[in-house]
Amino acid sequence: MNNMSALLSSYKHGWSLAQEFYTSAEVLRSEADLIWKQVWLFAGFTCELQHPGDYFTYNVFNQSAIIIRDDDGAIHAHHNTCRHRGSVICTEERGNEPTLKCPYHHWVYEKNGNLKNARLMPENFIKEDFGLHRVHVHVLEGIIFISFAREPPDFFQETRDLAPYLEPYNLDYAKVVFRDRYELDANWKLIGENFRECYHCGPVHIEYCHSVIGANLVEDRQEVLEAHIPVWIENGLAVNTIEQTNGSGHYATRYPLRPGFQSYSLDGKPVAPPIGRHKTYDSGVVGLINYPNFWMDAVTDYIWVMRITPIDALRSVVDLTWLVDGKAEEGKDYDVDRLTEFWKITGEQDWHLCENNQRGILSERYSSGPMSPFEMDVVHFHEWYLNILRSGILKKERRGLTT
Ligand code: FES
Ligand SMILES: [Fe+2]
Repeated sequence: MNNMSALLSSYKHGWSLAQEFYTSAEVLRSEADLIWKQVWLFAGFTCELQHPGDYFTYNVFNQSAIIIRDDDGAIHAHHNTCRHRGSVICTEERGNEPTLKCPYHHWVYEKNGNLKNARLMPENFIKEDFGLHRVHVHVLEGIIFISFAREPPDFFQETRDLAPYLEPYNLDYAKVVFRDRYELDANWKLIGENFRECYHCGPVHIEYCHSVIGANLVEDRQEVLEAHIPVWIENGLAVNTIEQTNGSGHYATRYPLRPGFQSYSLDGKPVAPPIGRHKTYDSGVVGLINYPNFWMDAVTDYIWVMRITPIDALRSVVDLTWLVDGKAEEGKDYDVDRLTEFWKITGEQDWHLCENNQRGILSERYSSGPMSPFEMDVVHFHEWYLNILRSGILKKERRGLTT
């Protein structure tokens, strides 16, 4: 039995995880191999790749993917490693290139990954054998997911469950208006956990609780919810909560804002025109999650998305993106500062909590603590996570690969 197996069996249902889950490089290596390099990861949006040759990269551990739009509109994802001697090809995070030229010896690849030209190679060199290695890509209603796995898991259920919530936003035609990035001194799971419970919301998120009825766990929002559901159904909006219970890694829900609030804004007033096929401002909040790195909170007039990426056991990056309707014009229809202030305030409250949490966990006297009944989604998150590690380790043991 190795350390990971012992650690996994130390888990106590309904309690926070053991210290090593938040601090150990060995745990992180297992997570990289069994989770991050295997599952589907949120990368970005199709609307970020409007023109042929538009690309962005996404780096996870030592893997880097180039996600690029082709001349025929198709979206490809390639490993960002040259088939000659392995150089990174795209060194910039985003840009537009008619072809992908390696900066080292200038091998040139087509957008679809085929090798187009390799300078001064012998006549018997077969270009067709040296296309870029493919990264799997799956576009879900304008959201690009990738998988570094040789054989990625099925994504059917996620697609079926999340698509009805995403469809009204017409994300292919949305527009990114702001990006922000924070490097946090916190293990990636602490950020995930934080966004799976509102036990902390009442005392900490004054602005959020002002906008969302019931977020403080004291007010009863049932009556407001029940009044909204028929309106949402009539407008063709998804209302069935997809619970993350039986080990699945995705979640979807719609809930109301406080009566009188039309958006996630400090005064409750809209900050942009309704997105996609929304006509009015009464669609509430759509909350979507796909573990391990996709978290979306959308109101009628803007969408806020968080992408979590581990750096090491003690540090993570959160990439934040705000989107509006593609036809909205800055200065006329929205003001970026006003559009972003709500989640800047709320997000920064969370980043502090996550970093404090990490610092406290580093204490020699940290030990697992019991969760409240309002943290059951954190427990579900843990179970999803532990199940993947357990079955991955079991598979490895069966193949005789564990040391
Ligand atoms: S490493 Fe890319 S062309 Fe040589
Ligand atoms: Fe929070």
